[in-house]
Amino acid sequence: MRFPSFPLYPIGTGLAILVLCLNFSGTPVFAQAIQYQDPIPRNKAIQSIAFGSCLRQNRPATILNTIRESQPDLFIFLGDNVYADTTSRAEMNAAYSLLAKKPEFQKLVGQTRIHAIWDDHDYGANDAGGDFAFRKDAEQIFKTFWGISDVRPYRDRDGIYASFLYRTAGKHPIKVQLILLDTRSFRSPWKTRPWWQTFIGIGPDGPYLPDADPEKTMLGSSQWKWLEYQFQVQADLRIVASSIQVLSLANGFETWSNFPMEQERLLQLASRAQGSVVFISGDRHFAEVSARSYQGKIFFDVTSSSLNQPLDFGAEANPLRQGVRFASANFGRIMIHDSTPRWWAEFQIMDEQGDVRIKASIGR
Ligand SMILES: [Fe+2]
Repeated sequence: MRFPSFPLYPIGTGLAILVLCLNFSGTPVFAQAIQYQDPIPRNKAIQSIAFGSCLRQNRPATILNTIRESQPDLFIFLGDNVYADTTSRAEMNAAYSLLAKKPEFQKLVGQTRIHAIWDDHDYGANDAGGDFAFRKDAEQIFKTFWGISDVRPYRDRDGIYASFLYRTAGKHPIKVQLILLDTRSFRSPWKTRPWWQTFIGIGPDGPYLPDADPEKTMLGSSQWKWLEYQFQVQADLRIVASSIQVLSLANGFETWSNFPMEQERLLQLASRAQGSVVFISGDRHFAEVSARSYQGKIFFDVTSSSLNQPLDFGAEANPLRQGVRFASANFGRIMIHDSTPRWWAEFQIMDEQGDVRIKASIGR
């Protein structure tokens, strides 16, 4: 099925070839570049990055108008961008078609640079992982819809992970790397909580238990190798997008905390990297900001969910939560301030009216 076309990824061919030959200080890095085409350098300056998740295609999504009116330089769809729990290509295409027809969606993508990752419901099944048989079909449909089938690094890649390098445009510009993770295509099965624990109400809400099995993987070996390389790229701020929460200690539902060894590996990589790292995530149908200090660095996980289907599951203990949990429609925003030699960034959760509901910052 053909979708209405909109220019989501205007990558210049010349620019893409350039990345094969140069790193970002202009030094030839042929060996590394042959292995990884990304981060793809983008010449658009970014100061304000908005993001959100969990969009029901059969409901109004007027919050997309609020996002557009806030004029972000980028918008990142963090997964569950449609609800298409199906192994039928026709049904999945139909779900995307409903999204594509929404005027508020068309206006947003017509005016804003877009990136996207997926979560379970646009992957095709609730909480599905690497063993999902429909995965290659879902990947093809995802890449077609988002207009990335034929562009680097997506066209040669198994999975939907990718990395881009932007700059800010203030008096003291910084390099901002956007790392988009695929938490679905290669993920091992979760450890499920025994039915009797659920029955007598032991442990946290949700169907899963933490699993420290060293064989279990969140990203798979190829994506991990790629990610190690990405963290070596020169950057001042790295925004790491994961569909599911990275830091939250509430681990009954899908979260990196269910694979504590994988979470540790990610934080170790991030703590050794130059500059600052912030995680952004979705999936939960509420918003919160978690913070954790690790090996001398402070990490934030800014969770924004849902764009148009908030659900309040009631209280959930997350000792890392900063301030309140917000359970109405929301989107997230990162504002980078570079007018002074020492840059700083604000993280915000915004409501449908464009008012700030949760905020945090780094570098201030
Ligand atoms: Fe999800």
